[in-house]
Amino acid sequence: MPSTATLKLENKELHLPIITGTEGEKAVDIRNLRNETGYVCYDDGFGNTGSCESAVTFIDGEAGILRYRGYPIEQLAEHSSFIETAYLIINGELPTPAQRKRFSQLLTENAPIHSSTEHLYEGFPWDAHPMAILSAMLNSLGCYYPHLATNDHQRDLQNFEETAAIIISKVRTIAAYSYRASRGLPYNYPRRDLPYCENFLHMMFSTPFEPYIALPEVAQALNLFLLLHADHEQNCSTSTVRTVASSGANLFASTAAGVCALWGPLHGGANMAVLEMLKSIHAEGDDGTKFIELAKSGKADKRLMGFGHRVYKHYDPRAKIIKESFYSALGSLGIKNDPLLDIAMRLEAAALKDDYFLARKLYPNVDFYSGLIMRAIGIPENMFTVMFAIGRMPGWIANWKEVASNPKGRIYRPRQIYVGATKRDYVPPHQRR
Ligand code: CMC
Repeated sequence: MPSTATLKLENKELHLPIITGTEGEKAVDIRNLRNETGYVCYDDGFGNTGSCESAVTFIDGEAGILRYRGYPIEQLAEHSSFIETAYLIINGELPTPAQRKRFSQLLTENAPIHSSTEHLYEGFPWDAHPMAILSAMLNSLGCYYPHLATNDHQRDLQNFEETAAIIISKVRTIAAYSYRASRGLPYNYPRRDLPYCENFLHMMFSTPFEPYIALPEVAQALNLFLLLHADHEQNCSTSTVRTVASSGANLFASTAAGVCALWGPLHGGANMAVLEMLKSIHAEGDDGTKFIELAKSGKADKRLMGFGHRVYKHYDPRAKIIKESFYSALGSLGIKNDPLLDIAMRLEAAALKDDYFLARKLYPNVDFYSGLIMRAIGIPENMFTVMFAIGRMPGWIANWKEVASNPKGRIYRPRQIYVGATKRDYVPPHQRR
């Protein structure tokens, strides 16, 4: 393999180094391009741009491969749990039993949120979207720990283990409280005796007169959902976290920004959009046949939500796992004769043999089935993307750490191709037409 690529520009020849990743991914290093030539690269949507070096997650979209820290997602889904996987993603290695115990203890100790934050919830309108609340509350959380949110990466890194545990644990409490606030329900304090997912479900659904005891299948489905969302390399929200971190911002602020980026329907908001799409197809008396035709119109608002991916050009491996576990748990999750599920199955079958979708390599992504799973375990629709955010937290934290601990790190500051007006002189108001 050549060690440099040659670029010829205006009679100048530039030798650009080739970088190869541990999985053989090749990149042309253009870091000196502008200095040497005055040119920049144009890559709308960053589809061809490696914005960083990262050791967290590997994806081969053509082959449908996803690995966290080298471990295939299929093996983690079968043998691991969300919390063990979160430890792996954040720290780089699977925990020893002693490390696992300490991590669990830290999560248990940090589950409650300061009682004064309860008043912050009251400041939101009752129907505020829980993603807006989650982002605001995560950023506010940093105010309760000024010594962990100094915006001095060296100092913030000294307490990284504690900060990471606070965020992983409290994001679940904050999320459950957002739901309780939106329903005008009293808050349920976290319990020390419950594991991560069961504790979340308790905080969501217990009432003062009846504790919510999660069925093992329900807790397992939630665990798998969170594990499958735990990281996904340089997607929109993770690059947002890295961008914010690159300015020196603390972990609370950086992850709060990640929540905002995740909210949109083309990213994490897709799981909610899938359900809305299925419901509207059902309400119109369509069985999916008409909608599939509409989805081929190319109109942004008629896309088949839960289909397509920037990186996967074949089946999203997470979709495969979530679909299989969903079908095997249908009975225990209490799902029978669900018209929305029937529509989803028909849409999938139709798209998988339709030239429009095949030519564009549009396959189901993780969100196609995750909304149905959330619905089956009783999570309200406007909380779907919040669930994605809880799951993605380990990935954001690990990526923040890579930025914060890189001694050669530079602020993220892309260039642009300016296409606006060229220089013109100021026109006084009375001369304007
Ligand atoms: N339904 C119909 N057509 C589609 C779809 C879709 N879901 N997705 C892409 N296309 C078409 C698009 O119109 C375009 O067609 P043409 O070449 O004729 O102009 C072509 O496929 C390429 O689309 P693109 O927008 O250039 O692709 P992208 O890589 O920029 O976008 C995507 C990727 C995920 C935003 C997009 O496929 C999409 O909007 N999907 C639906 C939303 C969704 O499910 N998002 C969740 C992504 S997975 C979870 C996560 O990681 O966030």
